[in-house]
Amino acid sequence: MPQLFFISPVGETRAVEGKVGDSVMDAGVRNVVPGMYGLCGGSLACVTCHVFVDKNTAAHCTPQHDFEDEMLDGTVTPRQANSRLSCQITITDELEGGTFHVPEKNY
Ligand code: FES
Repeated sequence: MPQLFFISPVGETRAVEGKVGDSVMDAGVRNVVPGMYGLCGGSLACVTCHVFVDKNTAAHCTPQHDFEDEMLDGTVTPRQANSRLSCQITITDELEGGTFHVPEKNY
């Protein structure tokens, strides 16, 4: 199982085990990572799974689709170039060591 890291807004790191085929949101919610809510269960309806993807992790993430981009555009504050909805990032073995920064507000 790939190990993933969630970094809180104050810099605290949580290491969790990710299950291949699940989403990064699934791993965060299952492990009760603060700020990771995933209220819509991954159906692209809530944006409460917003994360900032670490630059060394981005290349290993599932590509972003247009609808995710549109959702991010109007709803998350602040949106950054590395903003993703973590329910749309599928965990693969290549995501080992993947690091995701949880925004201060994720609701
Ligand atoms: Fe709702 Fe990702 S969990 S958009």
